[in-house]
Amino acid sequence: MSAAQGERGLLELLDGFIKTKALIGAYKLDLFTRCAEPRPRAQLLAELDLPARSGTILIDACVALGLLDEAGGALSTPPGLAPFLVRGEGRPFRTTTYLLDYYDEVFRALVDFEDLVRSDGATSTFKLRDYFKDDVSEVRSDVAREYSTYMEATMSRIAQVVLAAYPFTRHRRLLDLCGNTGTFCAAVVAATPGLEGAYLDVPACVEIGEAELAARPELAGRVRGIAGDLFTSELPPGYDVITMCRSAMDWGDERMGPIYAKIRAALPPGGAFLIIERMLPEEVLPEALPLYLRSIYFLAKSRTTRYRSPSQHVRLLEGAGFAEIEVIEPPLAPYELFQSMKIIAARRE
Ligand SMILES: C[S@@+](CC[C@H](N)C(=O)[O-])C[C@H]1O[C@@H](n2cnc3c(N)ncnc32)[C@H](O)[C@@H]1O
Repeated sequence: MSAAQGERGLLELLDGFIKTKALIGAYKLDLFTRCAEPRPRAQLLAELDLPARSGTILIDACVALGLLDEAGGALSTPPGLAPFLVRGEGRPFRTTTYLLDYYDEVFRALVDFEDLVRSDGATSTFKLRDYFKDDVSEVRSDVAREYSTYMEATMSRIAQVVLAAYPFTRHRRLLDLCGNTGTFCAAVVAATPGLEGAYLDVPACVEIGEAELAARPELAGRVRGIAGDLFTSELPPGYDVITMCRSAMDWGDERMGPIYAKIRAALPPGGAFLIIERMLPEEVLPEALPLYLRSIYFLAKSRTTRYRSPSQHVRLLEGAGFAEIEVIEPPLAPYELFQSMKIIAARRE
């Protein structure tokens, strides 16, 4: 790389946060909803009560970034962006739209970034997904509801991919640990005749899940919630497949190693434990950049969250006594933001 290329690359990186700010700011100021119908600049500025200088600066940047089209003297939201950026009643939940608000909070939480790195996340003020409590009954219902909405909305495609990659038909009873409101458990049970399921999560999530399951009579008696704490609750016996989806990453090895051992002890001989989550490549690869960037957000989210590589999971599982371990590469990624999902299946001999 020449110095000129190096400099260009650095300047592009420095511009990155300004692009993000322009997008989130314009979304929060509602430029895109207004421009769902074409309108001249002056009309847009007047409708949003924006000063001419600052409003024009933002509009110019949006046009240059391709966030707004400008033709024939009118601004409009590009059709390919409108489903994500235009607000309105009754629009379907979209992960990308949710992330616009969410990343706004993340952005704030990363302001004192050096402190976050020095303190291993201890200085974070980020409270949007505040479910790491010593006493799990302290997780507030509104917090549980806020992040469960996102978790539930992104789950059905994950469940489809897992179902395509692993045959649950060989099992009779499924226990999904950190199962949130039971969405994964219910999806697997609904797709697998003869399978019964339970999910364990903090009381606030199980309460939401129970209400949702009550509206699904076809699953009556086949899925139940267990309010508890992964670390202190005993795992119920008799479940021949135990799963953890998007959760093992939330804790360090010193906490997950004993949990893997506890899971092995709860399984009957021949039972299986599946870890389902995004995993790092064994060495840093540029194409895995989204994972490394997502990891930066983990610095704000908690003091312990991190992605692992398959071999790191395998080492932990072996340390917990599992001997038959398979890394399953699913045939496809569930969705754009969940690239590099893998399934590790460990069998109790
Ligand atoms: C990242 S979410 C994943 C949820 C779900 N497995 C999914 O993929 O949608 C982590 C889940 O772990 C739960 N959790 C956090 N601490 C817990 C604990 N000590 N015991 C049980 N569940 C816990 C949270 O309430 C949350 O539902």
